Amino acid sequence: MSDGRGDAGPAPMEGQGAYNRNAAVQAAGLAGALPMLEAAAATVPLTGDGAVVVADYGCAQGRNSLVPMQLAIDGVRRRVGAARPIVVMHTDVAGSDFATLFELLDRDPNSYLRDDAGVYPAAVGRSFYGPVLPPASVTLGWSSWAVQWLSRAPGPIPDQVQAAFSNDGSVRAAYAAQAAADWETFLTHRARELVAGGRLVVVTMGLDADGGFGYGPLLAALYEALLALAADGLIGPDEVAAMAIPTVGRGVAELAAPFAGTGSFAGLSLERCEVFLGEDRIFDDYRHERDAGGFGARWAAFARASVFPTLALGLVGGGGDARVPVFMDRLEVGLAARLAAAPEAMTIPLARLVVAKTGG
Ligand SMILES: C[S@@+](CC[C@H](N)C(=O)[O-])C[C@H]1O[C@@H](n2cnc3c(N)ncnc32)[C@H](O)[C@@H]1O
Repeated sequence: MSDGRGDAGPAPMEGQGAYNRNAAVQAAGLAGALPMLEAAAATVPLTGDGAVVVADYGCAQGRNSLVPMQLAIDGVRRRVGAARPIVVMHTDVAGSDFATLFELLDRDPNSYLRDDAGVYPAAVGRSFYGPVLPPASVTLGWSSWAVQWLSRAPGPIPDQVQAAFSNDGSVRAAYAAQAAADWETFLTHRARELVAGGRLVVVTMGLDADGGFGYGPLLAALYEALLALAADGLIGPDEVAAMAIPTVGRGVAELAAPFAGTGSFAGLSLERCEVFLGEDRIFDDYRHERDAGGFGARWAAFARASVFPTLALGLVGGGGDARVPVFMDRLEVGLAARLAAAPEAMTIPLARLVVAKTGG
């Protein structure tokens, strides 16, 4: 677009470590896929004496990568001993806050670098909808809470910011079509990067038993808060209409679709694929503490760190619009207040799967 609004894809997570400070919801959810990663680390081929590459696709600022990468390193170490180097390739979009990632790895007491001098972290700032790492180089891949982000918003959402809640069937269909194409693109590139026998474990946004996206109270409150900012004159209705969060939840049918028929896709086979519900620990805390303000603030901080930068792309000046800081602050306040007024548990549908590189 010529007016500065982004149509190339979502914005990175909020920088300066903000995502790391507000990603407890994601940390709780990804825990449900760790046993799959542990099993994959125990299974992948580790022949030869070169470096073993573990890839972390969509790492953001790394806080939530520490546990899975430590698990992967420990699993590999148990099998190869101390001598073999392990390279951890963290990947994300070019604009991601990689400085925070490396500071975390350097300083955090839980960093996987603390106890193993043979581990070498590195990063790539390129979209995972293209090639990221050399062919046949990755033994073990991990991606959590990342592939729900589409490569681009396929169009505006006239009545919401999340397509799953739009009443417009053509909008939902456009997002579903983009999601299907992006999933195949993602798998195709990972297939090239995995070594024969390598495994990729993915946890991503799923669908609940009724096919729902979840997060109903959060998204209703978010859209209301945006409309209130428009009513107050901070943003225009055309700007609200240009705001879209290009994320999708996928069920087993959508995730398994590329593998239908032959059972393989691009040389990958789907070893496991299931949906599950993440825990809403924010609501759990609310039930014990009855702190409605804390409930609203924590969910609003989650939304701010992960999706507000993408919403800001709908402003006339895009991510560089002078109103971005006040837009983010006032949206967070409005969202927190609405959530605090009527705390409700969120449904957090997730999907976890393992693919193996079986063919050429
Ligand atoms: C919600 S964060 C997840 C971070 C971390 N893996 C976790 O589990 O908390 C999603 C990450 O995926 C990244 N992402 C989205 N689209 C991407 C793409 N096309 N290529 C690489 N990374 C992408 C975002 O920039 C963001 O850092």
